[in-house]
Amino acid sequence: MKQLGKASVENIKNDLVNLAKYNSTPENGITRVLFYDEELQARDFIKARMAENGMTVREDAAGNIFGTIEGSEPDAAPVWTGSHIDTVLNAGMFDGTAGVIGGMEALRLIRESGLSHKRNIEVIVYTSEEPTRFGLGCLGSRAMAGELTAADMEEIKDQDGLSFAEVLQNLGHDLNDLQAVKRKKGDVYAAVELHIEQGAILDTKNIGIGIITTISAPTDIKVSVSGTQEHAGATPMEVRKDAMCAAAEIMLGLEGLARNAGDYSTVATVGKVEVFPGSTNVIPGRVDFSIDIRSADMEDKNTLVQKLKAIVKCVEAVRGVCVDLEIVTHDEPADADPRIISLIETACRQSGQSYHLMVSGAYHDSMFVSKFAPFGMIFVPSKNGISHHADEWTDFADIAKGTDILAETLLQLSQE
Ligand code: GLV
Ligand code: MN
Ligand code: MN
Repeated sequence: MKQLGKASVENIKNDLVNLAKYNSTPENGITRVLFYDEELQARDFIKARMAENGMTVREDAAGNIFGTIEGSEPDAAPVWTGSHIDTVLNAGMFDGTAGVIGGMEALRLIRESGLSHKRNIEVIVYTSEEPTRFGLGCLGSRAMAGELTAADMEEIKDQDGLSFAEVLQNLGHDLNDLQAVKRKKGDVYAAVELHIEQGAILDTKNIGIGIITTISAPTDIKVSVSGTQEHAGATPMEVRKDAMCAAAEIMLGLEGLARNAGDYSTVATVGKVEVFPGSTNVIPGRVDFSIDIRSADMEDKNTLVQKLKAIVKCVEAVRGVCVDLEIVTHDEPADADPRIISLIETACRQSGQSYHLMVSGAYHDSMFVSKFAPFGMIFVPSKNGISHHADEWTDFADIAKGTDILAETLLQLSQE
């Protein structure tokens, strides 16, 4: 009788270890920034592995990579899996990559089982899930959802002033083809993403699989505080308009709002600060910083943003500074499809795998895929919950277990 084999821990380990070699910071974790040399080489590595695994490979105008195995009705809406291979600075080797390599292994299992499936199954490497280069995450999946137009691509720039559109064109992509990147409801039958948890719930509870109910969504805000640049020795405290102290007050106010928000998933982070002119003996005249707010509850997030604006007004009035807030994204949390959740639960039960239903605090490309297709997500444990850090770790055997659940779920969906 034909049946699905088990994922190979060796295959998964080899591919992940080889992928991790494409790294611009070997002295401190892994850094692979969109369309820099290491990331381009990693893309070639993935495409070669897809082809070796019997997939047909293509790339769309936004740089999303697709590896496809054909079903018996290739015109039927396909089933998708996949994740990303770009990283934050000094990252670990599993964020995103576990879902790409696990996805390729799942497709290998399905193809080698000889089991028939009606729908094509595709593993996708979404372009730049991380905001590292252009300050905006989920570029590829956002474009698929129609929420990143050619005009937006002209607007977002990297630290060298190059726009995403320019970078794509320099690599030979034709922005006239962007229409074909966009998907509408019905184009994709279902999507299932495998990912590391990036939190400590599964590891702490010793549970093998997390099944996502909702993905928390980010609101990213750029803040610029303008005060008065003056002499640090000769300016009395009462006449200062210190942009740094004003920024600090806003940051602590934001922290208080997130701590006191009703919803456990509501969090806020200031991860990037630039102080001008940045000298020890000069009162800062300007401070620019980033705000990253997340919540699984859109109402909660809206309330927090309103309260933040009130704090900013107050700081402006009391300290005589000017604060400019630019909302870069205000994304909506995405609910996983109940039927896909139940298929994943069934796959776990049938294989005796412990599982836990949970909210994803991190965002994922599935958040944008949800705009045009029902989705599900499978999490595997992160050691001590560490992620976006060089010490990020997930056992290869745990990724293999997640891959088995993924393969079973993809097969079921592709047979419908
Ligand atoms: C994705 O990496 C996120 O920041 O949640
Ligand atoms: Mn990440
Ligand atoms: Mn990720």
